[in-house]
Amino acid sequence: MVVSWLTDGPVPRPTVRYAPADTATTTDTATTADTATTTTDTDTGSGSGSASGAGVAADGDVAEPGEARATTRTYRDASRRKIHVQHATLMGLRPGVRYRYEITPPLGGSEPSTGEFRTAPRPSASASAQQEAQEALEASWAAFTFTAFGDHGTDREDDPYGSPASGAVVAAVDLLDPLFNFALGDLTYASLRHEPSRVWADWFRMVSPSARRRPWMPVAGNHESERGLGKFGLDSYQTYFELPGNDAGRDFHGLWYTFTVGRVRFVVLLGEDACYQAHGLVYLRGFSGGRQTAWLERTLRAARADTTIDWVIVAVHQVAMSTAAYHNGGDLGLREEWLPLFDRYQVDLVVCGHEHHYERTHPVRGAVPGSPLLTPRPVVPTSAAAPTGSAVSTTAPTVPKAARTATPATTVTPGTTVTPATASGLAVAAEQVDTTTGTVHVTIGTGGSSTPSTGALLDPPIGQVVVPPELVRGRRRTIHADEGAPWLAARSADHPYAFAAFHVDPGVPGGTTTIRLTVHDSLAPTDPPFDEVLLTRPRRDAPAPAPEPAPEPGERTV
Ligand SMILES: [Fe+2]
Repeated sequence: MVVSWLTDGPVPRPTVRYAPADTATTTDTATTADTATTTTDTDTGSGSGSASGAGVAADGDVAEPGEARATTRTYRDASRRKIHVQHATLMGLRPGVRYRYEITPPLGGSEPSTGEFRTAPRPSASASAQQEAQEALEASWAAFTFTAFGDHGTDREDDPYGSPASGAVVAAVDLLDPLFNFALGDLTYASLRHEPSRVWADWFRMVSPSARRRPWMPVAGNHESERGLGKFGLDSYQTYFELPGNDAGRDFHGLWYTFTVGRVRFVVLLGEDACYQAHGLVYLRGFSGGRQTAWLERTLRAARADTTIDWVIVAVHQVAMSTAAYHNGGDLGLREEWLPLFDRYQVDLVVCGHEHHYERTHPVRGAVPGSPLLTPRPVVPTSAAAPTGSAVSTTAPTVPKAARTATPATTVTPGTTVTPATASGLAVAAEQVDTTTGTVHVTIGTGGSSTPSTGALLDPPIGQVVVPPELVRGRRRTIHADEGAPWLAARSADHPYAFAAFHVDPGVPGGTTTIRLTVHDSLAPTDPPFDEVLLTRPRRDAPAPAPEPAPEPGERTV
């Protein structure tokens, strides 16, 4: 766990003191100064006790209450102003425990600089005592919720890229008390502003009421790259967030990373590396020289070889599928580079932003045969008689714009009710998806942007695909192509400001584990969710089928 905060300049001995909430010696209050945020959580996915923000104590290494000295990181923004960010890594934490912390020196103002967080459920690596083993086992089974949205901005009146909803969603996610929140990229739109560091400070001040109480796990979007800030324009992002490493070297630190909560392995990617889209900012396609894709394959392979991991969830800003006209589109680069890996290693869920509306796909696996755009192939029952998991046969993967007749696959498992997705309505379904059959993609770039794409949804649905850009007078120009959208399961034109909640139930050994996705309007968060689906998969520790009894001597087998 890392606690991060901004200071106006260097401060003497920046420190975080922390203790379990039930024995906390820090100031007992629920309010704190504006810029204290917890930003990273749990471990690096490679086991407990790793160097980068491990949230799990090594056996016998219970050091609480504790104290962590922060390190100070700096960068100079576009106006050459030096920005100071403090990061304190809290070690020796136990899983499944609520902690409180206090920052010193205090951040100023009348409020004490305190916060709190819960550590993730996770079994101890090598519990030596039976009691510890039992506690760890129970913690590993604990259910938890995480929330997600992208494309945020701030709620300041002078912010042309945010809206009042940018502030509303911060309080809205807290109503569900998530273990952590994914900030799915395009956090601040500082790249478009004259005073980017002030915009960052505004954003941290706005999210602090939530982010000092639970980790906000960031994903870098295209607007995290600011011109002139380092090799990739990402100096500010890499200074504000202290994130797990990825073995790709200092230049790439924290840009993609993995962490584990209970039996879920999360994999965070920087989509710009794979995407063709030219958005007029810093063009980063291929910038890692293949390092990120190689790391992704290693990470996914390790996750699927680990029998303590059931779910593999990817968070990336850009999308592979979209039915919004005149916005961003689904990027062919993602389809070429990473979707085959998602297939090979059975990624369950991909959570994205970038498009400013809500959209959900059927589970997809592979590409529609003959599709020039690698249109993801939906895996749903083709008829009431078809078994779950059979593939939809799509004969017209690419639909001319003039012929807009494509409709999404809407046939479902017998006994369930689904309303076909339309531009004006949304399926609210008692729908179940076995994600061992395919990967579900969820787009939720509805954090507060002043330019929702809910009004741009093509009806009937047509997929918009970003293909390699054209060079016009030495500048890249983004090109789109059309396709059918057989992968579309649900979308909404009615809720431009929304967030997704994922309720993880780890189940019991040998059983089924589930994730219930509920999607909520940020401006009416206590209303019933406007979309809901239950994702299922068998636990990896399901007992193997009993072996066939060995034939008796002399018995013949056929
Ligand atoms: Fe974006």
